[in-house]
Amino acid sequence: MSKLIIDGGRRLEGEIDVQGAKNAVLPILAAAILSDGKNIIYNCPNLSDVETTIAVLKNLGCKVKWEKNSVEVDSSTISGYTIPDELMRKMRSSIIFLGAIISKCKKAEVSMPGGCEIGNRPIDLHLKALRQLGVEITESHGFIHCDGSNMSAAKIHLDFPSVGATENTMLASCLLDGTTVIENAAREPEIVDLERFLNRMGAKITGAGSDTIVIQGVHKLYGVEHTIIPDRIVAATYLACGAITGGTVVLKKVNSNHIGAMLNILKDMGAGIYAEKDKVVLTPAKNLKSAGTIKTMPYPGFPTDIQSPFMALATACDGASVFVENIFENRFQHIEELIRMGANIKTDGRVAVVMGKTPLTGAKVVAKELRGGASLVVAALSADGETQIENVKFIDRGYDHIEKVLSTLGADIKRRD
Ligand code: UD1
Repeated sequence: MSKLIIDGGRRLEGEIDVQGAKNAVLPILAAAILSDGKNIIYNCPNLSDVETTIAVLKNLGCKVKWEKNSVEVDSSTISGYTIPDELMRKMRSSIIFLGAIISKCKKAEVSMPGGCEIGNRPIDLHLKALRQLGVEITESHGFIHCDGSNMSAAKIHLDFPSVGATENTMLASCLLDGTTVIENAAREPEIVDLERFLNRMGAKITGAGSDTIVIQGVHKLYGVEHTIIPDRIVAATYLACGAITGGTVVLKKVNSNHIGAMLNILKDMGAGIYAEKDKVVLTPAKNLKSAGTIKTMPYPGFPTDIQSPFMALATACDGASVFVENIFENRFQHIEELIRMGANIKTDGRVAVVMGKTPLTGAKVVAKELRGGASLVVAALSADGETQIENVKFIDRGYDHIEKVLSTLGADIKRRD
């Protein structure tokens, strides 16, 4: 199993391009099965989650070619409607295929997503919305069986603006007769990217990015070319890496409008931020200070995915920083590893208080999930001495060759297999 070996204490300096967004590419690859032709997806990051998504597509009978950052999906050969257990377990967000498969095949069978390292991740909102569209759903032997032969457009109110449930509903409804309305929809930029992709294919969807999405059904979707938006979580992670080392980092191919919540926090911490539409420059703070209380919220609030990398950064800020995790109940597993490195963090339920600043020291630590793993990289870059991060497989789910990107900025980071 791979490890990252990081010798901390080097100031990061330089310019990097931000990769395409994982959370945009996964639903868009699922959406590709809705067309009758070939789709080419550009700016696709090289991630193990993309590999798993491609495995799902191939398992359904699609032809897929992945070269560098372009993925070509030909779904005219689709022959299956099932996602096997091992692929569902590998990546719980495979559930995003459910709406697309039902729409294409009028039936679907997926294994129940198991428990997850960051929380329960139930799918009740997905299933409730699909039932409202007329899908008959039964659960047996760990599988969810869906019959979509009597589907019709509907007005759907999500009890919570779930990203996955919003995407599944869009995918399931865009080929239905009539108009489907999703109220209390998630507003994340990745939903807007999915809308752009589907509309390019011929769908008639409006409202993504607001809390009401209107889907006017069409009869056919066509193969198209599409470029994935930049990854806002990865962008903010590399800004945290720059800030904790007192470095100057320039992000290119970024969408600065998508990372407003994180840029505000970095400014509150004292870092210099200069932002253009597709470029962000971070300059060092004279003295990093706590940004006060940071609460994770649905977009455009502060994202749960960047809570842990910013918690690592908070260890270098003077004063108490309070983190309130409102989205996933078990997203504090990185804390015991940060404490191993010298952080002073106390937790009570969904609240963590970081007392800073505390000098960090290199240690052997273990990534337990994707973003928590990234927080250990942020910490290790500023730590005195060598840090070994085990379970890099989690980090590889969301960061395209993290060691290469950080080496470009002057970090001393190696991967050891
Ligand atoms: C997506 C992102 C993930 C991000 C999360 C929140 C992808 C591939 N993943 O995950 O990186 O952290 O959004 O921004 O895009 N919930 C229910 N029932 C449901 C569905 C969700 O109770 O049926 C709850 C979840 O437990 C969680 C909250 O709703 O507490 C948000 O989850 P959701 O927005 O659905 O996240 P995902 O789509 O799984």
